[in-house]
This record gives sequence, structure tokens and C-alpha cells, in this order.
Amino acid sequence: MEICKHNEGCGGCIYQEIPYQDQIILKGKEILRLLDEKKISYEKYLGIEGSPKRYAYRNKMEYTFGDEIKNGEMTLGMHKKGRFMSIVTVDECQLVDSDFNEILKATLEFCNEKGYSYYHKKTHLGLMRNLIIRKGEHTSELLINVVTSSQLPFDGGDYADKIRALPLNNRIVGVLHTVNDKVADFVYCEKLFPIWGRDYYMEEIMTLKFKVSAFSFFQTNILAVEKLYTEALSLIKDLDGKTVFDLYCGTGTITQTLALRAKKVIGVEIVEEAVEAARENARINGLDNCEFIAGDVLEVLDRLEEKPDVIVLDPPRVGVHPKALEKILNYGVNQIIYISCNPKSLVENLSFAQYYGYKVISIKAFDNFPYTKHTEVVLLLQRL
Ligand SMILES: C[S@@+](CC[C@H](N)C(=O)[O-])C[C@H]1O[C@@H](n2cnc3c(N)ncnc32)[C@H](O)[C@@H]1O
Repeated sequence: MEICKHNEGCGGCIYQEIPYQDQIILKGKEILRLLDEKKISYEKYLGIEGSPKRYAYRNKMEYTFGDEIKNGEMTLGMHKKGRFMSIVTVDECQLVDSDFNEILKATLEFCNEKGYSYYHKKTHLGLMRNLIIRKGEHTSELLINVVTSSQLPFDGGDYADKIRALPLNNRIVGVLHTVNDKVADFVYCEKLFPIWGRDYYMEEIMTLKFKVSAFSFFQTNILAVEKLYTEALSLIKDLDGKTVFDLYCGTGTITQTLALRAKKVIGVEIVEEAVEAARENARINGLDNCEFIAGDVLEVLDRLEEKPDVIVLDPPRVGVHPKALEKILNYGVNQIIYISCNPKSLVENLSFAQYYGYKVISIKAFDNFPYTKHTEVVLLLQRL
């Protein structure tokens, strides 16, 4: 990676001065160190697999409007490292498609031409709040969402004309306007107005089609995630005639890849919108053997009458809540696949699982987030 011009301010790519092969060695060693520290025994460590794409692998960016210097010119980008009130314009980020950088620049130019102000975090005055760009890796579709307050009108028509006239490599399929008047520094959708085109983009993962709406969770590095899912599926011996629980299922991407081979898959996810998207995507893919339940895993498991043969876990960064984990382990299934985006919470959960008589059979890491500190891990737990 060429040293990024945003290195000083942005702080996202902590490993950019380290050659890629060394980065993944470091990440792999850190996982082994955490396993040893918690005395987690495992049969096989299968190493760490690099990302198929090292640059431009991110399919989503959420930029914030602000300023870098107090009362300075308007900026659009990321929160500055260690200085939460400052925003650094990141118009040459190498983790995203160059179209993202072009759209960011044009958006900033448009707002300056129109004399729009940015929404100030302390005074809560101003118009422009965020710009969210999403891209379908296999479809080259772009979805653009501008978030403003309702304090002044935003000229969506002129904005869409400007953005759509850009010479881009990908195809814009929708331009959206979200209104958010909540004071918290968080993108909240109070109202969503389509300005032009559709309010979703399409993605394809392992032959399945996914409709991704403006605010649905979706995996960030699609090419890397396909490798990860392939590994996860290969760990399960014979899915024929089996019932699988896919807990923390998001928009049901893993659920549907499992449904291609299992008798039935039940996905559980706390975000209602993601569950609706998962149901719609299953319909699009003609899968009638998956069921999605909206709710907290901890509570939903008490209501489920069906018993699983295999369990797949893909929890958020905090890991599985100990009480939910107890219920999961009490099913006593022979195989549990655990996908983790945070090795620290993973080892806590594994320590508990060991106590319940489970053993890690194989463990493999995936570098889905080159240059950053993050890593994914896939492992198979078996009951002894
Ligand atoms: C790492 S994502 C995995 C999503 C999905 N498996 C995928 O690959 O796209 C974790 C998911 O867990 C959901 N989640 C967080 N806490 C939850 C809970 N207590 N019960 C159910 N789902 C939860 C999040 O909304 C998120 O969609």
C-alpha cells in the first residue's frame, strides 16, 4: 500500500507501513496468543488466509460532515484519530473503490456551491450530517444515501443530477435522502426519501442473490466472506436431513448458503429490518426451508420447540452473552461452528464451552480487513 495521505488523521489503517504478508503473520500470532492465554486447546490451527483483495475491498462507507479545524472549512470523512470533534476529509482512501472518493469530492463540492452548513455536534444546528455509499461487489451497483437534519431544505434533484453525471466505474442505482433530527452522533433513519432510482442494491454471494436495503447490515468484504463461508460449510460433516440453527444471522447470508444443503435452517436476529430482508432474499432465491425469527437469541431459544442438529454462531463483537451460551451448549449438539470478528470475546466464550465439554477441532483465521487491526476466525467445536 502506498502510504496514505490520510495516515496522520484517519488512523484506520494501523498496519499500512508493514508488508502484507507480515501483517497477516502478526494477526495470526495474536490469535494464537489469545488462545494460549485462556488455555484453549485445539487440534488443528489452519493458519490465516489473506484477503483476495487488499485494496478497495470495503463495500460500505459512512462519512460524516464537519470541520477539521474549529470553524474551518467544511470537511467530509472520518473522525480524526484521538479528536472526536474533528472530521478529516478522506478523498483518497485506498480501502474503497475510487468511485467512493469521486462521489465524496463531488458531494462536498455540491454542498459548498449551495452554501449548505454542516450539522454541529454541540449546537445541533446545521444541515449536512452524513454520506453513506454502498456497493455491490459482484453487481457493480452503487447506492448513495445523504443524511441531513430537517432544519433547511436539501436540493435532492440537483444533487442526484450532479452525482449521476460523474464518470464512474460502477453504476448508480439509487440516490436517497435520509432525515435525522436526533441529537446523538449516530445515523438514525427518521424518514427516508428516494430521490432517484431504487432504495436498495443487489449483491451475489455463492450463487445466491441478496437485495440490500439502505440500512441493512451486510458483510463488508464480499470476496473474503465467500472464502470464509466456504470454510465454515466445509467443516460441517453431512448436512443432509439436518436442522441447523444460525444464531445472529443478520440478513441471512449464511442461513441461505446452509439451506442449499440442510433440511431446515432457522435464523435468529435481533434487527427486525434485517429479518424482513432475510425473508425477502430467501423468497428471491426460491428457498422454502429457511425460517427467520426476530428477537434476542437469549429469549428466542426459550420459545423454539425444534431441536438443532448443528448450530452456527456469528455474534457481534461482544461475543455470545454467557446466559445465551449456556442455553446453546445445553442443546448438546455434536457440532458448533463459531464465526467471530473479535478473537478477545471468542476466547472468553471458548473457555466456557470447554468447561461444558466442547473441544476446538479446527481453527482458521481470515484477514477480511487488510491494513486494519480486525480479523475474522472460523472454528469447529465438537462435543467430547
Ligand atoms: C457479525 S453480525 C453477523 C451477521 C450475519 N451472520 C452475516 O454474516 O451477515 C452479528 C449480528 O448479530 C445481531 N445481534 C446482535 N445481538 C443480538 C442478539 N442478542 N440476538 C440476536 N441477534 C443479535 C446483529 O444485529 C448482527 O446482525
